[in-house]
Amino acid sequence: MAQLPQSTTRDSFGSRFGVIAATAGSAVGLGNIWRFPYIAGENGGGAFLIIYLVFIVLIGLPVMLSEFAIGRSTQRNAFGAFRKLKPGSKWFLVGIMGIAAAFMINAFYSVIAGWTLEYLVKAASNQFRGTDPQGVSLLFSEFQSSSWRPLMWTLLFVSISAFVVIAGIKKGIEKYTKILMPLLVILILILGVRSITLPNASQGLQFLFQPDFSKIQASSIIVALGQAFFSLSVGMGTLITYGSYIQKKENLGASTVSVAFADTLIAVLAGVAIFPAVFAFGISPESGPDLVFITLPNVFAQMKGGYFFALMFFFLLSVAALTSTISILEVVVAYFTEEMKISRLKATILASIGIAFLGVLCSLSLYNVPEISIAGVNLFGILEYTASNILLPVGGFFIVIFVAWFFKGKLLKAELSSGSRFKIKYYPYFMFLVRYIAPLAIALVFLNGLGLV
Ligand code: TRP
Repeated sequence: MAQLPQSTTRDSFGSRFGVIAATAGSAVGLGNIWRFPYIAGENGGGAFLIIYLVFIVLIGLPVMLSEFAIGRSTQRNAFGAFRKLKPGSKWFLVGIMGIAAAFMINAFYSVIAGWTLEYLVKAASNQFRGTDPQGVSLLFSEFQSSSWRPLMWTLLFVSISAFVVIAGIKKGIEKYTKILMPLLVILILILGVRSITLPNASQGLQFLFQPDFSKIQASSIIVALGQAFFSLSVGMGTLITYGSYIQKKENLGASTVSVAFADTLIAVLAGVAIFPAVFAFGISPESGPDLVFITLPNVFAQMKGGYFFALMFFFLLSVAALTSTISILEVVVAYFTEEMKISRLKATILASIGIAFLGVLCSLSLYNVPEISIAGVNLFGILEYTASNILLPVGGFFIVIFVAWFFKGKLLKAELSSGSRFKIKYYPYFMFLVRYIAPLAIALVFLNGLGLV
Protein backbone atom coordinates (compact mmCIF):
# COMPACT_ATOMS: atom_id res chain seq x y z
CA MET A 1 0.00 0.00 0.00
CA ALA A 2 1.09 3.52 -0.69
CA GLN A 3 2.60 5.45 2.13
CA LEU A 4 0.56 8.33 3.44
CA PRO A 5 2.97 11.07 4.35
CA GLN A 6 1.72 13.53 6.97
CA SER A 7 2.82 17.10 6.62
CA THR A 8 4.56 18.17 9.77
CA THR A 9 4.42 21.89 9.22
CA ARG A 10 0.72 22.15 8.46
CA ASP A 11 -1.78 22.72 11.26
CA SER A 12 -4.26 19.86 11.84
CA PHE A 13 -7.08 18.67 14.07
CA GLY A 14 -5.57 17.08 17.16
CA SER A 15 -8.07 14.32 17.86
CA ARG A 16 -10.87 12.25 16.41
CA PHE A 17 -13.38 14.12 18.57
CA GLY A 18 -11.90 17.36 17.30
CA VAL A 19 -12.52 16.32 13.69
CA ILE A 20 -16.11 15.39 14.44
CA ALA A 21 -16.82 18.48 16.55
CA ALA A 22 -15.41 20.81 13.91
CA THR A 23 -17.09 19.10 10.97
CA ALA A 24 -20.40 18.58 12.73
CA GLY A 25 -20.05 22.20 13.81
CA SER A 26 -19.80 23.19 10.19
CA ALA A 27 -22.74 21.02 9.19
CA VAL A 28 -25.05 21.91 12.06
CA GLY A 29 -26.13 25.48 11.61
CA LEU A 30 -28.98 27.77 10.68
CA GLY A 31 -29.72 25.22 7.98
CA ASN A 32 -30.75 22.70 10.63
CA ILE A 33 -32.48 24.87 13.16
CA TRP A 34 -33.87 27.74 11.13
CA ARG A 35 -34.38 26.26 7.65
CA PHE A 36 -35.01 22.53 7.98
CA PRO A 37 -38.09 22.70 10.26
CA TYR A 38 -39.96 25.17 8.11
CA ILE A 39 -39.21 23.62 4.76
CA ALA A 40 -40.10 20.17 6.10
CA GLY A 41 -43.38 21.62 7.37
CA GLU A 42 -44.09 23.28 4.02
CA ASN A 43 -43.24 20.23 1.95
CA GLY A 44 -45.28 17.45 3.48
CA GLY A 45 -43.64 16.73 6.84
CA GLY A 46 -42.78 13.03 7.10
CA ALA A 47 -42.93 12.61 3.33
CA PHE A 48 -40.25 15.26 2.91
CA LEU A 49 -38.21 13.70 5.68
CA ILE A 50 -38.13 10.38 3.82
CA ILE A 51 -36.91 11.97 0.59
CA TYR A 52 -34.39 13.99 2.55
CA LEU A 53 -33.00 10.90 4.27
CA VAL A 54 -32.65 9.08 0.96
CA PHE A 55 -30.65 12.03 -0.41
CA ILE A 56 -28.44 12.14 2.65
CA VAL A 57 -27.51 8.48 2.29
CA LEU A 58 -27.27 8.15 -1.48
CA ILE A 59 -25.78 11.53 -2.28
CA GLY A 60 -24.74 13.40 0.86
CA LEU A 61 -22.52 10.65 2.26
CA PRO A 62 -20.61 9.94 -0.97
CA VAL A 63 -20.06 13.64 -1.70
CA MET A 64 -18.87 14.24 1.84
CA LEU A 65 -16.47 11.31 1.77
CA SER A 66 -15.22 12.40 -1.66
CA GLU A 67 -14.44 15.87 -0.33
CA PHE A 68 -12.62 14.45 2.67
CA ALA A 69 -10.56 12.17 0.45
CA ILE A 70 -9.59 14.97 -1.93
CA GLY A 71 -8.66 17.27 0.95
CA ARG A 72 -6.74 14.80 3.01
CA SER A 73 -4.81 13.21 0.19
CA THR A 74 -3.51 16.57 -0.98
CA GLN A 75 -3.42 18.51 2.30
CA ARG A 76 -4.35 21.60 0.37
CA ASN A 77 -7.14 24.17 0.11
CA ALA A 78 -10.06 23.63 -2.28
CA PHE A 79 -8.26 25.21 -5.23
CA GLY A 80 -4.80 23.82 -4.53
CA ALA A 81 -6.16 20.32 -4.01
CA PHE A 82 -7.41 20.05 -7.59
CA ARG A 83 -4.27 21.61 -8.95
CA LYS A 84 -2.13 19.13 -7.09
CA LEU A 85 -4.17 16.11 -8.20
CA LYS A 86 -4.61 17.20 -11.83
CA PRO A 87 -1.96 19.76 -12.67
CA GLY A 88 -2.45 21.64 -15.91
CA SER A 89 -6.13 20.75 -16.15
CA LYS A 90 -9.26 22.86 -15.72
CA TRP A 91 -10.32 21.03 -12.54
CA PHE A 92 -9.10 23.90 -10.39
CA LEU A 93 -12.24 25.74 -11.56
CA VAL A 94 -14.29 23.56 -9.21
CA GLY A 95 -12.17 24.96 -6.39
CA ILE A 96 -12.58 28.52 -7.61
CA MET A 97 -16.31 28.06 -7.80
CA GLY A 98 -16.28 26.80 -4.23
CA ILE A 99 -14.33 29.81 -3.03
CA ALA A 100 -16.80 32.13 -4.76
CA ALA A 101 -19.69 30.22 -3.18
CA ALA A 102 -17.99 30.61 0.20
CA PHE A 103 -18.06 34.39 -0.14
CA MET A 104 -21.70 34.38 -1.15
CA ILE A 105 -22.91 31.96 1.50
CA ASN A 106 -20.94 33.64 4.25
CA ALA A 107 -22.42 37.01 3.31
CA PHE A 108 -26.11 36.13 3.49
CA TYR A 109 -25.54 33.65 6.30
CA SER A 110 -23.92 36.29 8.49
CA VAL A 111 -26.99 38.50 8.07
CA ILE A 112 -29.32 35.92 9.61
CA ALA A 113 -26.64 34.98 12.13
CA GLY A 114 -26.60 38.66 13.11
CA TRP A 115 -30.34 38.53 13.76
CA THR A 116 -29.79 35.69 16.21
CA LEU A 117 -27.54 37.99 18.24
CA GLU A 118 -30.19 40.73 18.29
CA TYR A 119 -32.72 38.16 19.45
CA LEU A 120 -30.35 36.84 22.07
CA VAL A 121 -30.22 40.36 23.48
CA LYS A 122 -33.99 40.71 23.21
CA ALA A 123 -34.38 37.42 25.09
CA ALA A 124 -31.90 38.45 27.76
CA SER A 125 -33.66 41.77 28.32
CA ASN A 126 -37.02 39.97 28.56
CA GLN A 127 -38.60 41.77 25.62
CA PHE A 128 -40.98 38.95 24.66
CA ARG A 129 -42.70 38.76 28.06
CA GLY A 130 -46.29 39.87 27.94
CA THR A 131 -46.25 40.81 24.25
CA ASP A 132 -49.12 39.70 22.01
CA PRO A 133 -48.62 38.47 18.44
CA GLN A 134 -48.83 42.01 17.07
CA GLY A 135 -46.23 43.11 19.56
CA VAL A 136 -43.89 40.31 18.48
CA SER A 137 -44.28 41.17 14.80
CA LEU A 138 -43.63 44.78 15.66
CA LEU A 139 -40.41 43.86 17.45
CA PHE A 140 -39.26 42.16 14.25
CA SER A 141 -40.26 44.91 11.83
CA GLU A 142 -38.85 47.62 14.07
CA PHE A 143 -35.55 45.78 14.14
CA GLN A 144 -35.55 45.32 10.37
CA SER A 145 -36.33 48.92 9.64
CA SER A 146 -33.55 50.19 11.87
CA SER A 147 -30.91 51.67 9.65
CA TRP A 148 -28.00 50.40 11.71
CA ARG A 149 -28.89 47.53 14.07
CA PRO A 150 -28.96 44.66 11.55
CA LEU A 151 -25.73 45.97 10.01
CA MET A 152 -24.04 46.22 13.38
CA TRP A 153 -24.90 42.59 14.22
CA THR A 154 -23.77 41.33 10.81
CA LEU A 155 -20.44 43.07 11.29
CA LEU A 156 -20.10 41.77 14.83
CA PHE A 157 -20.81 38.24 13.69
CA VAL A 158 -18.25 38.41 10.90
CA SER A 159 -15.73 39.70 13.45
CA ILE A 160 -16.37 36.89 15.93
CA SER A 161 -15.85 34.28 13.19
CA ALA A 162 -12.65 36.05 12.19
CA PHE A 163 -11.46 35.97 15.79
CA VAL A 164 -11.78 32.17 15.93
CA VAL A 165 -10.28 31.57 12.49
CA ILE A 166 -7.26 33.79 13.14
CA ALA A 167 -6.30 31.48 16.01
CA GLY A 168 -5.85 28.58 13.59
CA ILE A 169 -7.08 25.00 13.42
CA LYS A 170 -6.11 23.34 16.70
CA LYS A 171 -6.07 26.47 18.81
CA GLY A 172 -9.03 28.14 17.13
CA ILE A 173 -11.59 26.09 15.25
CA GLU A 174 -11.05 22.81 17.11
CA LYS A 175 -10.79 24.40 20.53
CA TYR A 176 -14.06 26.30 20.24
CA THR A 177 -16.13 23.67 18.47
CA LYS A 178 -15.12 21.06 21.07
CA ILE A 179 -16.82 23.15 23.73
CA LEU A 180 -19.68 24.57 21.70
CA MET A 181 -20.96 21.42 20.01
CA PRO A 182 -21.63 19.37 23.18
CA LEU A 183 -23.30 22.46 24.65
CA LEU A 184 -25.50 22.71 21.58
CA VAL A 185 -26.58 19.08 21.92
CA ILE A 186 -27.51 19.58 25.57
CA LEU A 187 -29.50 22.73 24.83
CA ILE A 188 -31.46 21.20 22.00
CA LEU A 189 -32.30 18.14 24.10
CA ILE A 190 -33.59 20.33 26.94
CA LEU A 191 -35.70 22.36 24.51
CA GLY A 192 -37.02 19.21 22.83
CA VAL A 193 -38.06 17.64 26.13
CA ARG A 194 -39.75 20.88 27.23
CA SER A 195 -41.61 21.05 23.96
CA ILE A 196 -42.95 17.49 23.81
CA THR A 197 -44.13 17.59 27.41
CA LEU A 198 -46.45 20.52 26.65
CA PRO A 199 -50.17 19.79 26.22
CA ASN A 200 -51.18 18.96 22.62
CA ALA A 201 -47.58 18.33 21.66
CA SER A 202 -48.70 15.43 19.50
CA GLN A 203 -50.24 17.80 16.96
CA GLY A 204 -46.85 19.35 16.38
CA LEU A 205 -45.21 15.96 16.04
CA GLN A 206 -47.85 14.99 13.52
CA PHE A 207 -47.20 18.14 11.51
CA LEU A 208 -43.53 17.33 11.42
CA PHE A 209 -43.60 13.57 10.92
CA GLN A 210 -46.88 12.50 9.35
CA PRO A 211 -46.19 11.91 5.68
CA ASP A 212 -48.44 13.97 3.44
CA PHE A 213 -47.45 12.94 -0.06
CA SER A 214 -49.95 15.30 -1.62
CA LYS A 215 -47.70 18.18 -0.60
CA ILE A 216 -44.71 16.72 -2.47
CA GLN A 217 -44.20 18.46 -5.78
CA ALA A 218 -41.31 18.42 -8.17
CA SER A 219 -40.03 21.50 -6.38
CA SER A 220 -39.99 19.64 -3.05
CA ILE A 221 -37.46 17.24 -4.49
CA ILE A 222 -35.00 19.89 -5.56
CA VAL A 223 -35.56 21.62 -2.24
CA ALA A 224 -34.73 18.37 -0.43
CA LEU A 225 -31.49 17.94 -2.38
CA GLY A 226 -30.51 21.58 -1.94
CA GLN A 227 -31.20 21.24 1.77
CA ALA A 228 -29.17 18.02 2.01
CA PHE A 229 -26.20 19.74 0.39
CA PHE A 230 -26.50 22.90 2.38
CA SER A 231 -27.00 21.12 5.65
CA LEU A 232 -24.06 18.75 5.24
CA SER A 233 -21.85 21.66 4.10
CA VAL A 234 -20.93 19.79 0.93
CA GLY A 235 -20.47 20.93 -2.65
CA MET A 236 -18.14 23.87 -2.22
CA GLY A 237 -14.95 22.59 -0.72
CA THR A 238 -15.56 23.25 2.97
CA LEU A 239 -14.94 19.61 3.62
CA ILE A 240 -12.00 19.50 1.22
CA THR A 241 -10.52 22.22 3.40
CA TYR A 242 -11.42 20.53 6.69
CA GLY A 243 -10.35 17.17 5.25
CA SER A 244 -6.93 18.65 4.60
CA TYR A 245 -6.54 19.11 8.37
CA ILE A 246 -7.52 15.54 9.26
CA GLN A 247 -4.58 13.40 10.31
CA LYS A 248 -3.69 10.37 8.24
CA LYS A 249 -4.50 7.98 11.07
CA GLU A 250 -8.20 8.94 11.21
CA ASN A 251 -10.88 6.84 9.56
CA LEU A 252 -12.58 9.05 6.97
CA GLY A 253 -15.54 6.73 6.38
CA ALA A 254 -16.41 6.55 10.07
CA SER A 255 -16.13 10.31 10.51
CA THR A 256 -18.38 10.90 7.50
CA VAL A 257 -21.10 8.67 8.90
CA SER A 258 -20.90 10.22 12.38
CA VAL A 259 -21.13 13.75 11.04
CA ALA A 260 -24.03 13.06 8.67
CA PHE A 261 -25.87 11.24 11.44
CA ALA A 262 -25.36 14.07 13.94
CA ASP A 263 -26.42 16.65 11.40
CA THR A 264 -29.65 14.86 10.52
CA LEU A 265 -30.45 14.11 14.14
CA ILE A 266 -30.07 17.75 15.12
CA ALA A 267 -32.28 18.94 12.26
CA VAL A 268 -35.00 16.54 13.39
CA LEU A 269 -34.53 17.52 17.04
CA ALA A 270 -34.89 21.17 16.06
CA GLY A 271 -38.25 20.35 14.53
CA VAL A 272 -39.19 18.45 17.68
CA ALA A 273 -38.19 21.42 19.81
CA ILE A 274 -40.17 23.86 17.68
CA PHE A 275 -43.46 22.42 16.35
CA PRO A 276 -45.00 20.85 19.45
CA ALA A 277 -44.51 24.15 21.28
CA VAL A 278 -46.02 26.11 18.41
CA PHE A 279 -49.13 23.91 18.38
CA ALA A 280 -49.38 23.77 22.15
CA PHE A 281 -49.99 27.51 22.22
CA GLY A 282 -52.39 27.50 19.31
CA ILE A 283 -50.07 29.57 17.15
CA SER A 284 -50.31 28.91 13.45
CA PRO A 285 -47.15 27.09 12.33
CA GLU A 286 -46.30 30.09 10.22
CA SER A 287 -44.09 28.56 7.64
CA GLY A 288 -41.27 30.46 6.10
CA PRO A 289 -38.21 32.14 7.45
CA ASP A 290 -40.21 34.03 10.06
CA LEU A 291 -40.65 30.83 12.02
CA VAL A 292 -37.88 31.31 14.53
CA PHE A 293 -37.97 35.11 14.74
CA ILE A 294 -41.73 35.68 14.95
CA THR A 295 -43.51 32.41 15.71
CA LEU A 296 -41.19 31.26 18.46
CA PRO A 297 -41.05 34.52 20.43
CA ASN A 298 -44.86 34.18 20.64
CA VAL A 299 -44.37 30.75 22.12
CA PHE A 300 -41.80 32.03 24.60
CA ALA A 301 -44.09 34.92 25.58
CA GLN A 302 -46.72 32.45 26.72
CA MET A 303 -44.61 29.58 28.00
CA LYS A 304 -43.89 29.10 31.67
CA GLY A 305 -40.16 29.67 32.08
CA GLY A 306 -40.21 31.23 28.62
CA TYR A 307 -37.48 33.64 29.62
CA PHE A 308 -34.91 30.88 30.07
CA PHE A 309 -36.06 28.85 27.11
CA ALA A 310 -35.87 31.89 24.84
CA LEU A 311 -32.40 32.65 26.11
CA MET A 312 -31.32 29.06 25.57
CA PHE A 313 -32.84 28.91 22.11
CA PHE A 314 -31.25 32.03 20.73
CA PHE A 315 -27.94 31.16 22.29
CA LEU A 316 -28.17 27.76 20.65
CA LEU A 317 -28.92 29.36 17.31
CA SER A 318 -25.98 31.77 17.56
CA VAL A 319 -23.60 28.97 18.47
CA ALA A 320 -24.81 26.79 15.62
CA ALA A 321 -24.36 29.69 13.22
CA LEU A 322 -20.88 30.54 14.49
CA THR A 323 -19.44 27.03 14.15
CA SER A 324 -20.70 27.12 10.54
CA THR A 325 -19.48 30.56 9.52
CA ILE A 326 -15.99 29.74 10.73
CA SER A 327 -15.90 26.71 8.43
CA ILE A 328 -16.98 28.78 5.44
CA LEU A 329 -14.47 31.50 6.25
CA GLU A 330 -11.72 28.90 6.56
CA VAL A 331 -12.26 27.90 2.91
CA VAL A 332 -11.28 31.38 1.80
CA VAL A 333 -8.52 31.80 4.39
CA ALA A 334 -6.87 28.49 3.47
CA TYR A 335 -6.91 29.55 -0.17
CA PHE A 336 -5.42 32.97 0.56
CA THR A 337 -2.68 31.69 2.86
CA GLU A 338 -1.58 28.81 0.65
CA GLU A 339 -1.98 30.23 -2.81
CA MET A 340 -1.12 33.87 -2.20
CA LYS A 341 1.38 33.17 0.57
CA ILE A 342 0.02 35.72 3.01
CA SER A 343 -0.23 35.24 6.77
CA ARG A 344 -3.32 33.76 8.39
CA LEU A 345 -3.97 37.06 10.11
CA LYS A 346 -3.86 39.06 6.89
CA ALA A 347 -5.84 36.44 4.99
CA THR A 348 -8.60 36.38 7.60
CA ILE A 349 -8.88 40.15 7.75
CA LEU A 350 -8.93 40.46 3.99
CA ALA A 351 -11.57 37.75 3.55
CA SER A 352 -13.68 39.16 6.38
CA ILE A 353 -13.68 42.63 4.91
CA GLY A 354 -14.98 41.25 1.62
CA ILE A 355 -17.62 39.16 3.36
CA ALA A 356 -18.67 42.05 5.61
CA PHE A 357 -19.07 44.33 2.61
CA LEU A 358 -21.21 41.84 0.73
CA GLY A 359 -23.10 41.01 3.93
CA VAL A 360 -24.00 44.65 4.53
CA LEU A 361 -25.34 44.95 0.98
CA CYS A 362 -27.34 41.75 1.47
CA SER A 363 -28.82 43.01 4.69
CA LEU A 364 -29.78 46.37 3.18
CA SER A 365 -31.34 44.69 0.16
CA LEU A 366 -33.84 42.84 2.36
CA TYR A 367 -35.80 45.73 3.84
CA ASN A 368 -34.29 49.17 3.70
CA VAL A 369 -32.72 49.43 0.26
CA PRO A 370 -34.71 47.01 -1.93
CA GLU A 371 -33.12 48.68 -4.96
CA ILE A 372 -30.10 46.44 -4.39
CA SER A 373 -31.61 43.78 -6.60
CA ILE A 374 -31.37 42.16 -10.00
CA ALA A 375 -34.53 41.61 -12.05
CA GLY A 376 -36.70 42.32 -9.06
CA VAL A 377 -34.99 39.83 -6.73
CA ASN A 378 -33.04 41.32 -3.84
CA LEU A 379 -29.36 40.59 -3.46
CA PHE A 380 -29.97 38.36 -0.43
CA GLY A 381 -32.33 36.18 -2.45
CA ILE A 382 -29.97 36.08 -5.40
CA LEU A 383 -26.99 34.95 -3.37
CA GLU A 384 -29.02 32.38 -1.47
CA TYR A 385 -30.58 30.95 -4.61
CA THR A 386 -27.41 30.93 -6.69
CA ALA A 387 -25.30 29.37 -3.98
CA SER A 388 -27.73 26.75 -2.66
CA ASN A 389 -29.50 25.73 -5.85
CA ILE A 390 -26.77 26.17 -8.43
CA LEU A 391 -23.22 26.36 -7.11
CA LEU A 392 -23.54 23.63 -4.47
CA PRO A 393 -25.17 21.00 -6.70
CA VAL A 394 -22.84 21.83 -9.60
CA GLY A 395 -19.84 21.69 -7.25
CA GLY A 396 -21.05 18.41 -5.77
CA PHE A 397 -21.54 16.97 -9.24
CA PHE A 398 -17.98 17.69 -10.31
CA ILE A 399 -16.54 16.54 -7.01
CA VAL A 400 -18.09 13.08 -7.32
CA ILE A 401 -17.23 12.86 -11.00
CA PHE A 402 -13.66 13.70 -10.12
CA VAL A 403 -13.41 11.05 -7.44
CA ALA A 404 -15.21 8.48 -9.57
CA TRP A 405 -13.26 8.84 -12.79
CA PHE A 406 -10.14 10.94 -12.28
CA PHE A 407 -8.80 10.01 -8.85
CA LYS A 408 -6.33 7.11 -9.09
CA GLY A 409 -8.00 4.05 -7.58
CA LYS A 410 -4.92 2.97 -5.67
CA LEU A 411 -4.48 6.38 -4.12
CA LEU A 412 -8.15 6.63 -3.24
CA LYS A 413 -8.16 3.23 -1.57
CA ALA A 414 -5.04 4.12 0.38
CA GLU A 415 -6.68 7.34 1.49
CA LEU A 416 -9.97 5.81 2.55
CA SER A 417 -8.28 2.98 4.40
CA SER A 418 -5.57 5.23 5.86
CA GLY A 419 -2.94 3.05 4.19
CA SER A 420 -4.65 -0.31 5.02
CA ARG A 421 -5.21 0.66 8.62
CA PHE A 422 -9.00 0.32 8.23
CA LYS A 423 -11.15 -2.11 6.30
CA ILE A 424 -13.16 -0.44 3.56
CA LYS A 425 -15.77 -3.04 2.75
CA TYR A 426 -18.03 -0.23 1.64
CA TYR A 427 -15.67 0.67 -1.21
CA PRO A 428 -17.60 -0.98 -4.07
CA TYR A 429 -20.87 0.61 -2.90
CA PHE A 430 -19.17 3.96 -2.56
CA MET A 431 -17.77 3.68 -6.08
CA PHE A 432 -21.15 2.70 -7.44
CA LEU A 433 -22.75 5.73 -5.79
CA VAL A 434 -20.12 8.22 -6.92
CA ARG A 435 -19.94 6.80 -10.43
CA TYR A 436 -23.62 6.53 -11.28
CA ILE A 437 -26.22 7.29 -8.66
CA ALA A 438 -24.96 10.56 -7.19
CA PRO A 439 -24.08 12.34 -10.47
CA LEU A 440 -27.27 11.16 -12.13
CA ALA A 441 -29.48 12.21 -9.25
CA ILE A 442 -27.76 15.56 -8.89
CA ALA A 443 -28.03 16.25 -12.62
CA LEU A 444 -31.71 15.30 -12.78
CA VAL A 445 -32.72 17.28 -9.77
CA PHE A 446 -30.69 20.24 -10.94
CA LEU A 447 -32.13 20.31 -14.47
CA ASN A 448 -35.57 19.84 -13.05
CA GLY A 449 -35.03 22.85 -10.83
CA LEU A 450 -34.10 24.92 -13.88
CA GLY A 451 -37.24 23.69 -15.58
CA LEU A 452 -35.33 21.75 -18.25
CA VAL A 453 -36.57 18.24 -17.49
N1 TRP B 1 -24.20 23.48 6.90
C1 TRP B 1 -24.44 24.74 7.49
C2 TRP B 1 -25.89 24.84 7.92
O1 TRP B 1 -26.62 23.90 7.81
C3 TRP B 1 -24.03 25.88 6.63
C4 TRP B 1 -22.73 25.69 5.95
C5 TRP B 1 -21.52 25.68 6.50
C6 TRP B 1 -22.52 25.44 4.58
N2 TRP B 1 -20.55 25.44 5.58
C7 TRP B 1 -21.15 25.28 4.39
C8 TRP B 1 -23.37 25.30 3.53
C9 TRP B 1 -20.65 24.96 3.14
C10 TRP B 1 -22.87 25.00 2.28
C11 TRP B 1 -21.53 24.81 2.10
O2 TRP B 1 -26.34 25.85 8.36
